[in-house]
Amino acid sequence: MEKKLWKVAVIGCGMFAHAQYLPNIAREANAVCVAVCDIVPERARAACEKYGVAEWYTSVDEMIEKCDFDIAIDVASIQAHHEINMAVLAAGKHLISQKPAAPTVEALTEQIELARRMGVKFVCVPIHPMRYDLNFAKQMMRDGVIGEPTYLKCNLAHGGPEYFQYRDADPSWFYEDGAGALVDMGVHGLQIVTTMFGPVRSISCTAAITDPARTVRSGKYNGLQIKSDQIPDVYLISLIFENGKIGFIDTGFSQKASKTPQLEIYGTEGTITFSKPYMENPAPEVYMDCRERGIRGWINPAAWEVRQEKLKSQCCCLTDLVRAIECDTEPVLTPEHARHVLEIMCKIPEAIESGATVAIETTF
Ligand SMILES: NC(=O)c1ccc[n+]([C@@H]2O[C@H](COP(=O)([O-])OP(=O)(O)OC[C@H]3O[C@@H](n4cnc5c(N)ncnc54)[C@H](O)[C@@H]3O)[C@@H](O)[C@H]2O)c1
Repeated sequence: MEKKLWKVAVIGCGMFAHAQYLPNIAREANAVCVAVCDIVPERARAACEKYGVAEWYTSVDEMIEKCDFDIAIDVASIQAHHEINMAVLAAGKHLISQKPAAPTVEALTEQIELARRMGVKFVCVPIHPMRYDLNFAKQMMRDGVIGEPTYLKCNLAHGGPEYFQYRDADPSWFYEDGAGALVDMGVHGLQIVTTMFGPVRSISCTAAITDPARTVRSGKYNGLQIKSDQIPDVYLISLIFENGKIGFIDTGFSQKASKTPQLEIYGTEGTITFSKPYMENPAPEVYMDCRERGIRGWINPAAWEVRQEKLKSQCCCLTDLVRAIECDTEPVLTPEHARHVLEIMCKIPEAIESGATVAIETTF
């Protein structure tokens, strides 16, 4: 039987759609991009022309009404995700949502329940649970390579979207209500640490605004001033996991540069450190304290048996979704994991304000 060709629609034709989704759809699955949509007509038209897409739209509702597609990738601005996701799911389409998929736990639960009722698959990024290096490290932890893993530290930050990434769309929205450094960057740190140590039981947090007025440094809006004095741009988050292990995340838009590893996991007999670009599918470096053999030191492990696929692009979420549809299984990038991370993000303002430890209720 001939394999089905999956028809994909991309919603939001900004920086990330161009960098990761539009060029990689056909590489990641037996799929073709049949439509693009952006509320800014010239952005939709430009993406359509650049990638030879058949149709472009300026409204999700119109696209749903007129276009025959199976899967939508929502890569619009953060504040637009919930409305877009609900419309796509209500139309019975499979969905990949950029992060965070919704502003509240209740809203994401609404999306999860709608997907279930409509019998469609729903994937939420970031893609960290699919990473080669994290899965390799999980295997090493299971095999006791660093003894008992006890705690971890995650550094997930850059200098801000107006500084760090080349942009032709106005990035002001990153500093407006509903967006900010926590939901744009902190979400990565939280997804990474929960991928490694599982669900979180409680959190505490301090935060600050380090740069209340920013300047766009590239592209069409180069030189534009952005008021960034409303939402913190650095967050220091302490976590206690359900399994009793502890962790720390330093995240935000306040690191122009850093040489700190993205992640380190400490165990009773060693350390695993992640300092290489993860899209290159590196093995993490490992320090082993091997008492019975009388040696200790850093190693660069080669995988004896590689169980984890290597990543081709950030559009690997499409591979995950299509596999879940074709095999009728759960995706790796589950919305329940995203909801747990979202609950933590939603409770961080309370943790900052009260200075207290705040309990987390959801799990995945
Ligand atoms: N590594 C990562 O995972 C990563 C990196 C960067 C951005 N992102 C995420 O990708 C998403 C987009 O970010 P970006 O950097 O591409 O931003 P961007 O500003 O470059 O692009 C967003 C686009 O969405 C469009 N848009 C807004 N509302 C819309 C609506 N209702 N319908 C259709 N289009 C709409 C805007 O006009 C704009 O062209 C965000 O969720 C962001 O957090 C993820």
